[in-house]
Amino acid sequence: MDPRCVDYLVTEAERLAFERDGFFVLEDVLPDDLVEELIPAVDAADAEYRRAENIEPDKRTNLLDFIGKDDIFLELLDWYKTIPKVWGLMNWNINLYHSHMIVTPPAGPGKSLEQDGLGLGWHQDSGRLNMDFETDPRPMVSLKVAFFLSDASEPGRGNFTAVPGSQRSNTFPGEDRKQMPESAVQASVPKGGAVIFDRRVWHSSSNNYWDEPRRTLFYGYSYRWLRPRDDMTVGHYMDRSDPVRQQLLGASPSGGHGYTSPKPEDVPLRGWIEEHLGEEAVVR
Ligand SMILES: [Fe+2]
Repeated sequence: MDPRCVDYLVTEAERLAFERDGFFVLEDVLPDDLVEELIPAVDAADAEYRRAENIEPDKRTNLLDFIGKDDIFLELLDWYKTIPKVWGLMNWNINLYHSHMIVTPPAGPGKSLEQDGLGLGWHQDSGRLNMDFETDPRPMVSLKVAFFLSDASEPGRGNFTAVPGSQRSNTFPGEDRKQMPESAVQASVPKGGAVIFDRRVWHSSSNNYWDEPRRTLFYGYSYRWLRPRDDMTVGHYMDRSDPVRQQLLGASPSGGHGYTSPKPEDVPLRGWIEEHLGEEAVVR
């Protein structure tokens, strides 16, 4: 893993924002040249998906399990500016449990925010987790890092849209799941930035009235004991990945028991943190 991780640990301000709002924005996460390399990979995967599913060019796509489709996507799994935030918020018994890619083409001529609205669909992530847990609020269990490959620094560009603080509410804090609740915001994220969000925060995709497609890559991290939320087509990456990457891709060398009671070889991330940041950095 990239040793520069130690320079990007979660800050106290980020931790407080995450606890208060359920998300925070990071700017300058991906350099321009990496973004330029990612865009054609996204477009190729998106084009193949649109062909296979017969999706029109102006419709939003949500492609699950994109991570295995191009080696470049693997680089973001343990990106040095984001993975330390993830382990800082969730501790070390984590892995990728889900990846998805949303491409929102420009709404096109004749469409406007005033006339056509934001195209909202408010939800919490993770399906049955929101029914099967009995507590209020429910536990977090997972979070997502959403990398923005296009500019969403102004509203109406397919921004990540959320109700700050709503991660503590089991019920939707609004009337209509297609409308903006009063306290909702469209997060401002520049190209190359990212949003890290609690899966419980009530959030939505939104329409894009800008002139460029909105391309976003979502990496969902959970505790290792949660089952994957997609097919996790990552077997071809295992042999060429370092031990921490293998952990993040879902490996458990000691077997199934190691997801809930990990042996040291199951969680090399713990060892990496201890080695680079000292014993006191290994929480619990
Ligand atoms: Fe979502």
